[in-house]
Amino acid sequence: MAFQMELACILQSLEHKSILVTGSTGFLAKIFVEKLLRVQPHMKRLFLLIRATNDETARQRLQNDVMEKEVFRILREKHGKDFYSFIWDKVTPVAGDIACENLGIEEKSMKEEMWREINVIVNVAATTNFDERYDVSLITNTMGAKHVLEFAKKCVKLEILLHVSTAYVSGEKAGLILEKPFNMGETLNGIMRLDIEAEMKLANERLRELRDNGASRKAETIAMKELGIQRARFFGWPNTYAFTKAMGEMLLGQLRENVPLVIMRPTIISTTYREPFPGWIEGTRTFDVFIMNYGKGKLRCVPIDRRMILDVIPGDMVVNAMMVSMVAHSNQPSLFIYQIGSSVRNPLCISMLIDSAYHYFSKNPCITNDGKPIRVSTLTIFNTMASFRRYMTLRYKIPLKGLGLANVVFFQHFNRLYRDSSRKYNFINRLMGLYEHFFFFKGRFDDFNSEKFRAAMKDDGMVDGMFCFDPKCIDWEEYLMKIHIPGVVKYLLESKLVK
Ligand SMILES: NC(=O)c1ccc[n+]([C@@H]2O[C@H](COP(=O)([O-])OP(=O)(O)OC[C@H]3O[C@@H](n4cnc5c(N)ncnc54)[C@H](OP(=O)(O)O)[C@@H]3O)[C@@H](O)[C@H]2O)c1
Repeated sequence: MAFQMELACILQSLEHKSILVTGSTGFLAKIFVEKLLRVQPHMKRLFLLIRATNDETARQRLQNDVMEKEVFRILREKHGKDFYSFIWDKVTPVAGDIACENLGIEEKSMKEEMWREINVIVNVAATTNFDERYDVSLITNTMGAKHVLEFAKKCVKLEILLHVSTAYVSGEKAGLILEKPFNMGETLNGIMRLDIEAEMKLANERLRELRDNGASRKAETIAMKELGIQRARFFGWPNTYAFTKAMGEMLLGQLRENVPLVIMRPTIISTTYREPFPGWIEGTRTFDVFIMNYGKGKLRCVPIDRRMILDVIPGDMVVNAMMVSMVAHSNQPSLFIYQIGSSVRNPLCISMLIDSAYHYFSKNPCITNDGKPIRVSTLTIFNTMASFRRYMTLRYKIPLKGLGLANVVFFQHFNRLYRDSSRKYNFINRLMGLYEHFFFFKGRFDDFNSEKFRAAMKDDGMVDGMFCFDPKCIDWEEYLMKIHIPGVVKYLLESKLVK
């Protein structure tokens, strides 16, 4: 393998390097930053771009929202009372925003220093909300990627730009989904040529129109979210998030010139498997929303194909793949794409997740605020979206019509009930609409490129070691029962009041 030498010296390759990471207040980049500081304390500097009004508030955010989080526990223990002197010696928080040119960094001397010093840029920042406003999603996930690339081009010592995307840029395709780059303007349904500039113009014009017509902030947000979903579906993507991330990839591919670029496409990122300790997670996303609501007794039925493969990959494995690829491709003026998932090598069937959740919460029920255990029952499964929609109509929509009528006649009495039920109905409908492509997903993410790395690491004896990202080593049942679901309960559920 061409990169075998580099794999043997990943740690040395990071020594004395200056690295810029965006998105470090988020879930994935926290795992990345922690690992970097733990395994290579001799890197030169770590610049962390953080959204804040100035560098001082960025520093406060770094301390409160990053370093004080439990994921840094092992590192804090390692350095003891010298933890913060170590951190401030290595880490430079920088106030900025990828939605702006020059990453919104105002201080000239800071920008110039970064352009002089930085060897590696890791762009993790994104808006990960599937249902984000179109303008926000475009400026962050699409233009943000471009701004990071433009910044990278100014870094005279740049060795690599690693951009984190998502495997779901490929939409709802069935079969084996290859690690292929996008061509500019390509769409998933092939019916129209996509013009990113025209999309930006459309979003801006819609926004101006709403503001000129005096729309409230809430109405503006609803309309901009709707526009995002409409445009995504028009071009064949299931949601605004995946669509704007795909456009970000297109811009990177088109404007890259000779910048060494790795695009990392993880699938669904789950709790840490091993490092810094098993089971850490932050922020509720995709299938954890369902685990949480099931544990709380709020989810009793779901439209899903029980044979479906859910492509999940632990956060620390994604980070290991990021580190290996950024070292291996340093100074190679090409574009490399890696899909990091499990569906080809070690598929997790959704039925195992459903059964594990049932067994876990039956044995370890969540407790309500007044100390009562919440009993879970087996989920009712709808095999098609159509059968689920029929159920929703009978269970909620028709009774809602009755309530609506009663509301008009005896409005005082039925008002609240109507409002609550109507909100619940709309919420479930929107949630299911957004996740529909996950429930019946028939694709598998090829990871041929990652497999080449793993083969090289095997030769190096590193496959099970510090940089392991082989999903084959995961025993899913054990992982779900002993690591993932307990992690979701500990870090996501217990931090919220169970009602
Ligand atoms: N989580 C998954 O399952 C998953 C799966 C596949 C791919 N990914 C990709 O992995 C990356 C990280 O995901 P995550 O789950 O860690 O996301 P996350 O927890 O939502 O974190 C997003 C991070 O991006 C920052 N950010 C957002 N807009 C920004 C802007 N305009 N300028 C600078 N920073 C900005 C956020 O900062 P604030 O704190 O200021 O909001 C936060 O630090 C994303 O690129 C995502 O697309 C995630």
